[in-house]
Amino acid sequence: MDKNILQETAKKMMTLPKGILAMDESSPTIAKRLASINVENNEINRRRYRELIVTSPDLSKYISGAILFEETFDQKMEDGTLFRDYLNSIGILPGIKVDKGAKDFSCHPNEKITEGLDGLRDRLAKYYEDGAKFCKWRAVITIGKDIPSEGCIESNMNSLARYASLCQENNLVPIVEPEVLINGPHSIEDCDKVTRSTLHSLFRNLEMLNVYLPGTVLKPSMVISGEDNSSRADKDKVANMTIDCLKDCVPNDTSGIAFLSGGQTDCEAEEHLNIMNKNHSLPWRVTFSYARAIQAAALATWLGKDENLITSQSILIERASRCSRASVGEL
Ligand code: G3H
Repeated sequence: MDKNILQETAKKMMTLPKGILAMDESSPTIAKRLASINVENNEINRRRYRELIVTSPDLSKYISGAILFEETFDQKMEDGTLFRDYLNSIGILPGIKVDKGAKDFSCHPNEKITEGLDGLRDRLAKYYEDGAKFCKWRAVITIGKDIPSEGCIESNMNSLARYASLCQENNLVPIVEPEVLINGPHSIEDCDKVTRSTLHSLFRNLEMLNVYLPGTVLKPSMVISGEDNSSRADKDKVANMTIDCLKDCVPNDTSGIAFLSGGQTDCEAEEHLNIMNKNHSLPWRVTFSYARAIQAAALATWLGKDENLITSQSILIERASRCSRASVGEL
């Protein structure tokens, strides 16, 4: 592990006023996204859509790094350039999602465990050699009747820490993503409680496994009411409770925080981030690592048609630019 390399990469990922673009939808997720616009889910269409994203003019003004799915990491664009090389050439760090997805957790009904540790060391060495600078691993925690269990939180956070230490052994910055899902009718207070337990467990496990925090990026969900709650907390409450929770749980030497959007509307995702940066003095950089909150409107405009490409790209850039301004509290 070279701490200087890790710290340098993490600093670049956290460059002002940029954020990280998540375009690493797994095979089942990209299938859903393309189905939503009636486009066939095949390798060519996945390449066309992702090429639309990365060639959007001026993307690197707002985006420091892009998380790719393994197919895209090894895929060529229409002119034969590898996506990862193209990103590097425009000043965007290429990263890769390395988990193998959240699967049903044995003996824990309605809970998930993220898989992918077997063979990870060898995969990471290859990704680094091929030019990846950082990785991502997503763990999901569900709020419901009698869940999350301690076993689910602890097992997932331990896996995140094992992944993070393997990344750092290979000089790759780990993005650690513990997502407390927005699904359900729970209150913001329930979400706060679960997010705190999750983050405490995460940082305890990271410390136990000697993970170097200045070379680690946290990608959390916000503290927010469940999507089916009938009296959802307003945006100031979400922003303030999220920052209070993070200040209580995240060590100051963590290199930075980049939120997932997790099913919030575009407007909510940017406003919450803006309030956090405008109204609080923060010990770390707090930015975005959104997928849906940057891509959704562009995808809906594209519809798989070349004639919509330019309009779709300008919508994507408008989203990226607004999130960038929110990341410095200037929206
Ligand atoms: O792992 C989840 C993605 O990287 C973030 O996606 O912003 O749509 O929640 P999202």
